[in-house]
Amino acid sequence: MWVLHYLLVTFLITITYGIDAASAGITRHYTFHIQLKNITRLCKTKTIVAVNGKFPGPKVTAREGDNLQIKVVNHVSNNISIHWHGIRQLRSGWADGPSYVTQCPIQTGQSYVYNFTIIGQRGTLWWHAHIQWMRATVYGPLIILPKLHQPYPFPKPYKQIPIIFGEWFNADPQAVVQQALQTGAGPNASDAHTFNGLPGPLYNCSTKETYKLVVKTGKTYLLQLINAALDDELFFIIANHTLTVVEADASYVKPFQTNIVLLGPGQTTNVLLKTKPIYPNATFYMLARPYFTGQGTIDNTTVAGILKYHHKPTSNHFNSSKNLPVIKPSLPPINSTSYAANFTKMFRSLANSRFPANVPKIVDKKFFFTVGLGTNPCPKNQTCQGPTNTTKFAAAINNVSFILPNTTSLLQSYFSGMSKKVFTTNFPSTPVFPFNYTGVPPNNTMVSRGTKVVVLKYNTTVELVLQGTSILGIETHPIHLHGYNFYVVGQGFGNFDPTRDPKQYNLVDPVERNTINVPSGGWVAIRFLADNPGVWFMHCHIEIHLSWGLTMAWVVLDGDLPNQKLPPPPSDFPKC
Ligand code: C2O
Repeated sequence: MWVLHYLLVTFLITITYGIDAASAGITRHYTFHIQLKNITRLCKTKTIVAVNGKFPGPKVTAREGDNLQIKVVNHVSNNISIHWHGIRQLRSGWADGPSYVTQCPIQTGQSYVYNFTIIGQRGTLWWHAHIQWMRATVYGPLIILPKLHQPYPFPKPYKQIPIIFGEWFNADPQAVVQQALQTGAGPNASDAHTFNGLPGPLYNCSTKETYKLVVKTGKTYLLQLINAALDDELFFIIANHTLTVVEADASYVKPFQTNIVLLGPGQTTNVLLKTKPIYPNATFYMLARPYFTGQGTIDNTTVAGILKYHHKPTSNHFNSSKNLPVIKPSLPPINSTSYAANFTKMFRSLANSRFPANVPKIVDKKFFFTVGLGTNPCPKNQTCQGPTNTTKFAAAINNVSFILPNTTSLLQSYFSGMSKKVFTTNFPSTPVFPFNYTGVPPNNTMVSRGTKVVVLKYNTTVELVLQGTSILGIETHPIHLHGYNFYVVGQGFGNFDPTRDPKQYNLVDPVERNTINVPSGGWVAIRFLADNPGVWFMHCHIEIHLSWGLTMAWVVLDGDLPNQKLPPPPSDFPKC
């Protein structure tokens, strides 16, 4: 009898809540073992930190609405934390991951379960270590599928294939950054770029480590492009194939066609690749190489992968793909700012009834932040290798070079009401000493140092203009905001003009992203609604710029209603 009763109750619950339950999603469990791994690239064998013995790390897949519980177990001597790049973390800031911002890192032998629900997002994101330069080898795709039975706003792809761009160092990346910070010099450049961890045939001793994409004729593939490189913006191209961009940073965009894609570190882009209708009797190189306008030396090498067509079995066994010609594409010049600017302008959000663009129209708080390089003095009794031998390279926002706490996290100190000893709330909303930002740089390039934040009331609408500077050279800065997507309402070259430029803002269909390139020698304007309480890091995703202090944090206060408050941290939260 109780079985029948149970069935009846279950049936009633299902018909009452069925629709909601289906869209509420399921819980998915993953375990990440952080372990050492021996690996050979460019004919050198070395030990790297990796997840579950894989490089790149495992793919995490979920649907919109799902709850993810990812247990991270640290088996290495380095402390570590993992960031779920681009996940909004609505009221789950404890799971965001940046070390000393939302948590202390997970110590050797300890574990932590990152527990968060994916709300209102679908598309390609990624995860990576968020402490020092550990993300050089600790990264992987994070793919959010639409809810069950929800179609894509573009032709359903035959297959979905992640291609992660990376940067390979023969040296230990942790040693590279430590040396740079010690001497004050720019970091030693990486030795190769990679597709899914593979440098490809254009490097010495690397042909065996080549990424191959084998496709069938007449199909549409979704390539999930992720730039996980530490320091390099990358152009990407596939010879003789046009790509259709359909999504950026897990937000759909109005589809547009291009031959070349540009991704800053941290950015993700989904593109459709329509394969040729008939077997082409050729193979095709796909290439990636940096876009760079700065003054330092970077790794300007090119990673190549191969796009190969699957051959139908025929009687002609001599027609092996080994003898096929390889078609090689060409990329724009390394400093092609005009290409970068034109490409960036192509992105528009769908802005339709299913995927509206909720751009804040009324702005409560305006901010103007300069982003760029600067200098710190060289310690006494030391000769430095910065721009001069008495200075070290630094970087800053509004001339504040950010110092992370090292015995607690910003979020813990805020939540426990103990923030006074950890940070101050006087981050400047405009530059303290205005100058001609993109003109002749000032004589004094010294930055100030501090742990300063901006405090926002819950539901504040924010407009932020990010202005690049010419101090120690103009270059792009891919600025990433944790915990939010923002709308990119305007951009341009030179200095932002507060009377002229806002008139040109796009408030209709601006692209929604989590990482935007501040143009080299220019500015970008973004807007967002501060509806997620917590402490949210915002930084340049070029890792050396982050190491030099090009970062700050927003503290978003709780709202009045119970569902507008950040709950307390979970019981297994890492100890400091
Ligand atoms: Cu993908 Cu704070 O970073």
